Amino acid sequence: MAETLTITDNRTGKQYEVPVTDGTIRAMDLRQIKVNPDDFGMMTYDPAFTNTAACRSKITFIDGDQGILWYRGYPIEQLAEHSDYLETAYLILYGELPTARQGDEWAREITLHTMLHENLKTLLEGFRYDAHPMGMFISTVGALSTFYPDAKDIFNAESRRLQTIRLIAKVPSIAAYAYRHSIGRPYVLPDNELSFAGNFLNMLFKMTEPRYKPHPVLERALDVLFILHADHEQNCSTHAMRGIGSSHPDPYSALAGAAAALYGPLHGGANEAVLRMLTEIGSRDNVPAFVKRVKGGEGRLMGFGHRVYKSYDPRAKIIKRIADLVFEVTGKNPLLDIALELERIALEDDYFVSRKLYPNVDFYSGLIYQAIGFPVDMFPVLFAIPRTAGWIAQWEEMLTDPDQKIARPRQIYIGPGKRDYIGREKRK
Ligand code: ACO
Repeated sequence: MAETLTITDNRTGKQYEVPVTDGTIRAMDLRQIKVNPDDFGMMTYDPAFTNTAACRSKITFIDGDQGILWYRGYPIEQLAEHSDYLETAYLILYGELPTARQGDEWAREITLHTMLHENLKTLLEGFRYDAHPMGMFISTVGALSTFYPDAKDIFNAESRRLQTIRLIAKVPSIAAYAYRHSIGRPYVLPDNELSFAGNFLNMLFKMTEPRYKPHPVLERALDVLFILHADHEQNCSTHAMRGIGSSHPDPYSALAGAAAALYGPLHGGANEAVLRMLTEIGSRDNVPAFVKRVKGGEGRLMGFGHRVYKSYDPRAKIIKRIADLVFEVTGKNPLLDIALELERIALEDDYFVSRKLYPNVDFYSGLIYQAIGFPVDMFPVLFAIPRTAGWIAQWEEMLTDPDQKIARPRQIYIGPGKRDYIGREKRK
């Protein structure tokens, strides 16, 4: 028997049977609930979408209470242990792990699209020397839309595939150019013999040596961080990607918007905010006073809390382990002791325990990035590079889903009723 929810409207005494599918009712099924025939019908009010599913998705599964994260059914722990970023991106985009041949072809295609059009250098030259790299990243990704007008053909699967390859291949190059611009060093061309993460390190850090050799531990650490950040279902930036994409612009324009949504300190900008917070705290001794201030409502403990995870973020657990490996190579980040003390005190404190606030992915990632040599303002860009795979997969899923239309929420109007215009001279 089909599951239904029975709703009794006390205003009219009428009863309604609303179908339940996947434990969910369709908001449109509530529209039949009316007091009189002219009534618009019942709506739901859900600011910030805390209890509204906006899509059906096959890509990423999260169980926030148990701290579970799967991409296409594969646990994040297994992917972080055995996979690499490009293979994971393929999985996220196409639903299955590639065969050996598919994986090689995919990596080859990405490698052959890493170069940027020379005019993008001129665009980057227009930025001030101290421009935030995320601002440069967002603008340059948006600008790509003008370089690839064929990308407008969004209902052509082959065109989508080409833009996907271009985007995944070019975002590290854009990030590296933005970084080199900000420190006044010449841009470095991609090296096709290196891995995805290795080439990114090359484009960032190569100096005068004829060939850059990435440190294998740092290269792997960065690749695992990329795996961990590749998708995270319907977060703020993914929602932006789907929302912008729903009006059918090219994917470069939509992705620039998604990256802008990521930039904020409550989302992908949190890793940058964590580092600034730890630096401001300054020493372990200052941690209790800082926690007290947070509990008193003065700011937030950045890198703590999550809309979905109400237990330890599984990505944070993996990142903590990677941090140890990285610090063996780079030396310990002096801020680590402050972070550990902050975590220890917060996890014992009723304020954080009762609100189920645990470290999220951003609490430790910044410490690793800093130890590898990234300046703090590059952190959100480092998040945007791998999330590009997730954004595109979600965009593609939205475009090909017959249930989807242009995203257009409703509102409850609470402004004034109709009133007549008064000339300026008569206004009091
Ligand atoms: N520090 C202190 N208190 C917090 C924190 C925090 N980091 N996060 C939530 N709280 C408190 C709130 O003040 C609120 O308390 P109250 O009930 O007494 O008012 C309660 O916990 C619930 O918080 P909400 O804001 O309702 O939780 P929401 O789900 O809307 O927010 C968010 C989630 C934005 C991640 C929040 O926890 C936060 O601001 N964290 C810090 C920023 C951060 O680390 N963001 C990265 C998230 S991961 C990512 O995007 C990749």
